[in-house]
Amino acid sequence: NYYAILMAGGVGSRFWPSSKASNPKQFIDVLGVGETLFQTTFKRLSRLIPVENIYVLTNKKYVEMIKDQIPHIKDEQIVPEPEMRNTAPSILLGALKIYKKNPKALTVIAPSDHWIKEEDEFIESIQLALDSAQDNDQLITLGIEPTYPNTGYGYIKYDKDDGEEVKKVARFTEKPGEKKAKKFLEEGNYVWNAGIFIWKASFIIKAFEEYQPEMFRLFEKGKDIWNTKAEDEFLETHYGQASNISIDYGIMEKSDSVYVIPVKYHWSDLGTWSSVQSELPQDEKGNTAVNSRLVVEDAEDNIISTYNKKIVVLKGLSDYIVVEDKDVLMIVPKSEEQEIKHIREKVMKDF
Ligand code: GDD
Ligand code: MG
Repeated sequence: NYYAILMAGGVGSRFWPSSKASNPKQFIDVLGVGETLFQTTFKRLSRLIPVENIYVLTNKKYVEMIKDQIPHIKDEQIVPEPEMRNTAPSILLGALKIYKKNPKALTVIAPSDHWIKEEDEFIESIQLALDSAQDNDQLITLGIEPTYPNTGYGYIKYDKDDGEEVKKVARFTEKPGEKKAKKFLEEGNYVWNAGIFIWKASFIIKAFEEYQPEMFRLFEKGKDIWNTKAEDEFLETHYGQASNISIDYGIMEKSDSVYVIPVKYHWSDLGTWSSVQSELPQDEKGNTAVNSRLVVEDAEDNIISTYNKKIVVLKGLSDYIVVEDKDVLMIVPKSEEQEIKHIREKVMKDF
């Protein structure tokens, strides 16, 4: 009864210029390890979920890329979205298709652009969540011990004294402002949402009926055509009408059946170039080379990534991100890395 929905439709804009709409972060080898984040995620999930039960929800423009990266995947496992509407509509669509195949299905929802080193511990926590979701109506998420007031994550408040392994969530706050995030960290009863969810397909569908009734009714019209040839045409005309909202704002903040498993293993959503650097080796001066070779003199704490495994000579440069792609060379101080998203927008407009 185990199924998975792999979310692979995002653009990864903080990761520009390596990640871009035509080739987003999940489909590139960000860490230079010989496989893309999507390939690593697919393999990791297949340790627990039968390969033919792993569905990939993605934008239609990435379908060929997915087939190239996972050659044995069947067409019916790739669900192309005609438009980008964020994660809520795609998770509902995936749940409806899976529910029709197997009304007893238990589903793991996983982003395809994260990095988890301790795979055994990860699999253990997913197994625990699946067992719990099998017996209970729960929307379960994995919680990560927070280290600083990151405003790009969901914050989960729970009772630290709750003796259960799967703990009831008091409140879920998606992407709080800086002030709130600081307050949450001081309070201490919060974990970050890892963006990995576990639930019965039937129960998340019920949650949509309750908290996103319009979206539910829109997709309800397709109930006879899921997993048939008529599905593409239905999505072409209806999918774009779904509200553009994430699962976090759309369901997790609203439901009172949210549960969390706080986990101890290392997790990273590789959201920025600095976070990639912390996963990779550095030379004695703290420089990191991704797909490149460095010749260094008087240079510290830089991260360098090139397009064609170039030799890069650094002298007198510290705390910089230097990323070369086919058409772009970006040189930005690390302190400004949050700006990359905006720089990207500006560049896209001007060129
Ligand atoms: N199929 C599909 N369609 N996938 C999508 C879409 C879409 O329209 N939009 C985004 N995704 C995929 C992304 O590729 C990624 O794998 C995943 O869904 C999550 O989307 P992000 O855009 O990366 O979300 P986020 O990072 O801002 O926030 C989420 O993740 C954080 C942890 O990394 C939230 O769940 C936060 O609460 C969480 O802390
Ligand atoms: Mg993300």
